[in-house]
Amino acid sequence: VLGLLCKWCSYSAADLAGTRHRKYPANIYIIQVPCSSWVDPLFILKALRMGFDGVLVSGCHPGDCHYQTGNYRARRRMSLTGKFLENLGVDPRRVKMSWISATEDYKFVEVVNEMVADLKDLGPNSMFADNGPRDAVET
Ligand code: FES
Repeated sequence: VLGLLCKWCSYSAADLAGTRHRKYPANIYIIQVPCSSWVDPLFILKALRMGFDGVLVSGCHPGDCHYQTGNYRARRRMSLTGKFLENLGVDPRRVKMSWISATEDYKFVEVVNEMVADLKDLGPNSMFADNGPRDAVET
C-alpha cells in the first residue's frame, strides 16, 4: 500500500503510532506530502501501474487544512479520481481517502488495518499487469 500522508496531520499520526508502539501492517510505504491537495491523480494511477495494491491518501480534517481549503480540493479530486479508476475497472477499495489528525494515531492504525484487510480480500493488483488493460491505456 502506498500512503500519501499530509505532513501536518496524518504523517504525524503515523509517527505517533510508531512512537507509541502501536502495531499496524508493515506493508504500507509512506510518503510525506505537504498537503493532501498536493496529490495528483496521476500519482495514484502511476502507483497502481507500478504494482501497488492500493493507495491511501490522508490529510487534515475538513476545516483544519494548513492551507485552508486544500483538503476540500483534494476531496473533490479524489472523488473524480475514484470514478475515473472505476471506469478503468479498478475496484474502488484500492484507493482510499481519510482524515486523520496528528493526535489520531489509533485512527491511522485502524484505517491501515482496514485497508490492508480489504486489499487482502481483493488479492493482488493485476489490473495493470503486462498483458492486461495497461496496453489499452497506453494506446
Ligand atoms: Fe493537511 Fe492540507 S495541510 S490536508
